Amino acid sequence: MRIVDTIDEVRRQVREWRAQGLTVGLVPTMGYLHEGHASLIDASHRDNDRTVVSDFVNPMQFGPTEDLESYPRDIVHDAKLVEEHGGDLIFHPDPSEMYHEGFSSFVDMTVLTEELCGLSRPVHFRGVCTVVTKLFNIVKPDRAYFGKKDAQQLAVIRHMVDDLNMDIEIIGCPIIREDDGLAKSSRNTYLNDAERKAALVLSEAVRLGMDMVRSGEKNCDTILSQMKSLIEAEPLARIDYVKMVDCATMQQIPTLDRPALCAMAVFIGKTRLIDNFFTEDVQEG
Ligand code: PAF
Repeated sequence: MRIVDTIDEVRRQVREWRAQGLTVGLVPTMGYLHEGHASLIDASHRDNDRTVVSDFVNPMQFGPTEDLESYPRDIVHDAKLVEEHGGDLIFHPDPSEMYHEGFSSFVDMTVLTEELCGLSRPVHFRGVCTVVTKLFNIVKPDRAYFGKKDAQQLAVIRHMVDDLNMDIEIIGCPIIREDDGLAKSSRNTYLNDAERKAALVLSEAVRLGMDMVRSGEKNCDTILSQMKSLIEAEPLARIDYVKMVDCATMQQIPTLDRPALCAMAVFIGKTRLIDNFFTEDVQEG
């Protein structure tokens, strides 16, 4: 397993693999890797001959008041995890390697980015689309792996790949949770003990919503209002949004008459956490 920090080195390595007829998977990350990332690396290792993990805290996807400076970083820990899960190369560039002086090209998207996290994080998806496009152009993978925890991001990337005819297969992987249900996230490290306990309201609300869908409830307001009541009962929690949207368009729907995503963002203290479920993943009971 090698760690490189320049675009040239990545290209040289991937060219060598291609010359040997090998397939390449890409796992884009912002580092501080946990079992959620490990599951993406495992999936790529299973599907491809070689796996590249990018480890880059992308400044472009953070708003001016967000946690760019405090976002946790630990390349030594990341390297160990990537190696243990069969990754072959870590791309760990400096921001100046990704965004040279005079950088002025962006990948932007309408509609899908105008709901959910796009409302409270107006520059976020432009930053994600731009950096993911750059990573795709640098690595030129056969397949790329993203977690379903960032469900809107996954939908946005699938849509971008389709709109812009990028010849890459996008694989969405299941949410990985702690034993008590909290979805794994690098941002969980921000939580103190009381907040860590309070954060369980997200996964509890997900479970409640899934149970209601399973029992045949079709009215989105009925489902969402019960989920919101559960979250609002926790004094440390403040809802950013809890919504039901069409899976493909990310637009809100009143009735469960098509595949939907139920997504939420909730502040626990100062930490903004997300969680979700896809109605298609709920087994009818
Ligand atoms: O999901 C993330 O960690 C990031 O948004 C991504 C896809 C690596 C782009 O910076």
